[in-house]
Amino acid sequence: MEKKKKYLDASLDLETRIDDLLEQLTLEEKFLLLRGKDFWTTNPIARLGIPSFGMTDGPLGVAWHSSHRGKHTRFPATIGLAATWNKELAYKMGEAMGKEVRLAGRHQLLGPGVNIIRSPLCGRNFEYLSEDPVLSSDIAAEIVKGLQSQKVAACVKHYIMNNSETKRTKISAEISERALQEIYVKNFKRIIEKSDPWGIMACYNKINGIYGAENQYILREILRDQLGFTGHVVSDWGAARNTSGAAACIKAGLNLEMPGKLLSKVLTPKNIIKALSSGEINEKDIDEAVRPLLRTFFRVGLLEQEESIFTKISDLSEHQELAQKIAEESMVLLKNDSNILPVNLDEVKKIAILGPNAKKVFGKPLQGGSSAVVPPKFITPFEGIRKYVSGKAEIIANPEDADVVFLILGLDHGGNFLKMLFIKTEGDTEGNDRTHYGLPDNQVRLIEETVLKNPNTIVILIAGSPIDCSPWHDKVPAILNAWYPGMMGGTALARVIFGDVSPSGKLPVTYPKKLEDHPAHLSKKRFPGNLKELKIYYEEGIYVGYRYFDKHAIEPMFPFGFGLSYTTFKLSNIKLDKSTIKENDILTISVDVQNTGSQAGAEVIQIYVGDDECSVDRPLKELVAFEKVFLTAGEKKTVTLTLEHSAFEFYSEQESAFITEAGSFTLWAGTSSRDFPLSTKITLIK
Ligand code: BGC
Repeated sequence: MEKKKKYLDASLDLETRIDDLLEQLTLEEKFLLLRGKDFWTTNPIARLGIPSFGMTDGPLGVAWHSSHRGKHTRFPATIGLAATWNKELAYKMGEAMGKEVRLAGRHQLLGPGVNIIRSPLCGRNFEYLSEDPVLSSDIAAEIVKGLQSQKVAACVKHYIMNNSETKRTKISAEISERALQEIYVKNFKRIIEKSDPWGIMACYNKINGIYGAENQYILREILRDQLGFTGHVVSDWGAARNTSGAAACIKAGLNLEMPGKLLSKVLTPKNIIKALSSGEINEKDIDEAVRPLLRTFFRVGLLEQEESIFTKISDLSEHQELAQKIAEESMVLLKNDSNILPVNLDEVKKIAILGPNAKKVFGKPLQGGSSAVVPPKFITPFEGIRKYVSGKAEIIANPEDADVVFLILGLDHGGNFLKMLFIKTEGDTEGNDRTHYGLPDNQVRLIEETVLKNPNTIVILIAGSPIDCSPWHDKVPAILNAWYPGMMGGTALARVIFGDVSPSGKLPVTYPKKLEDHPAHLSKKRFPGNLKELKIYYEEGIYVGYRYFDKHAIEPMFPFGFGLSYTTFKLSNIKLDKSTIKENDILTISVDVQNTGSQAGAEVIQIYVGDDECSVDRPLKELVAFEKVFLTAGEKKTVTLTLEHSAFEFYSEQESAFITEAGSFTLWAGTSSRDFPLSTKITLIK
């Protein structure tokens, strides 16, 4: 009997299988693997039993255009997932998406999208997570773990500095080493440490003058050598450039050029052969380029029987329930004068539901760009509320006759994505940034007119980015931010506004009072960039989001971490398990939290650290840990959080490393970045 080839033997360890397969592959077959076959798959190598490896967009579920036009669970936008501050939900969403990726016959989800939300105007904020690297990475790592628990590769994107969309394929992000490391790399660093993602997507833009897909410093020195990434790097679709050519991309550490032959012109067999014959690269470089991709193939079980790979699931109702739960927990109550919310249906009998987003269906093909998931059904806010109140209250058209008005406003993705690549329209979408921080003018007018007709007008925002509330904030009694709440959003919304669920979402981004207060908007060169020079200047450095507002004592409209509830909480009794900390120590912090109101709810305990004395300038405080806790009325719990030594570090440009300095630090425990009932001190010793 013929001996089973080593690479086919799943009982052998990963690297032994890879070594063997590398030996079996011819040079030409290796070239084939380095470039996609078509938009979503790699070339199969039938001779060796290697099927095509299939990818699908992400990151809000399995996208329609990349899954044979399949309908899948449309989860809330991931900025909303981040607003839940609930790591367990992030894992579950990853796991559910992983199952649906397999159902679609793919092996990798092109997500999570983790670019730091540097400006309220970035068109893709809805697909990202937060302005803060700790919140972003903790949520992203759980998505990755959930996906990979299903043997589906994550593809954390877009590495790195793709924090805006304007001229994304040409612009260079100009950034200092410290800011690059301390904010942007840190985000990826923590994701890699916590979840070992099997894939990462290189960005379209340049970083300090060099494109992401051929940037040796970014892709090799930082990603591989510093962060220890073991997975494969795929180019964003069309992001590999012929500026420095095939040799530069291979040397930098690009492992797969997408999207396939038709549009991918860098890692062509011809170019690679040329680079080999000129001596710019050698066969060992080719092996090193192919190796991480093979690692992913084995990790997802690509070479095992297809049958066992594609677990058929017929009932997606569990995933829809999960989508609803995430939506419920994501909603952030921004204002609630005289507790107008929740609306009591024993008293309220006539309800008006107005506004352009009341009946808008999100979930059309390519709406918003590559993240568009087309769901089997979509419950709009109007539909969700109508169903909920049926038999209890009447829906009427005239706000003047209503007991309460729900005014459902916000953004949309600006229409058809493909058209928009040519004719720019306003909206939060891939390929485009917003030009205004505010609501469209007609929506602001609608608020003014409606409030005059009925003062009990509650504004509900459906949008994936911060919205300027200043012009009308004082005119309305309540504002609820529902993000893009996904296919079950209408049902979730009704359960929140009528009080089945107390809101527990917290902002993952700062809402400035005006755009000019925001660190990314102090000049045009910071955002959208100097478009003649094609450079975007990250002059705010490490002072991204709340770090800047705190440093300059600027009052935001709504601070990072903020969100109201229908109940109240009291924090007390902050305790540390030690008074000094040294390298390799884990610090345990505990805080008591009590629900002091009369209904169940959830609070997010947020821990921030500030360095009392340091040789370099540091933010006043930075988020280092958080935990969401659920409490029935009157219930009290002790929340325990742990901090590693890295919670105290900063990036030293002098030493080219993250370091800590001995001395005293303040630890705050609170419920937003501007509300700290508790604090204590710790001394770091060397
Ligand atoms: C986007 C990626 C996406 C890819 C494939 C690109 O334009 O930037 O996020 O995964 O297309 O659709």
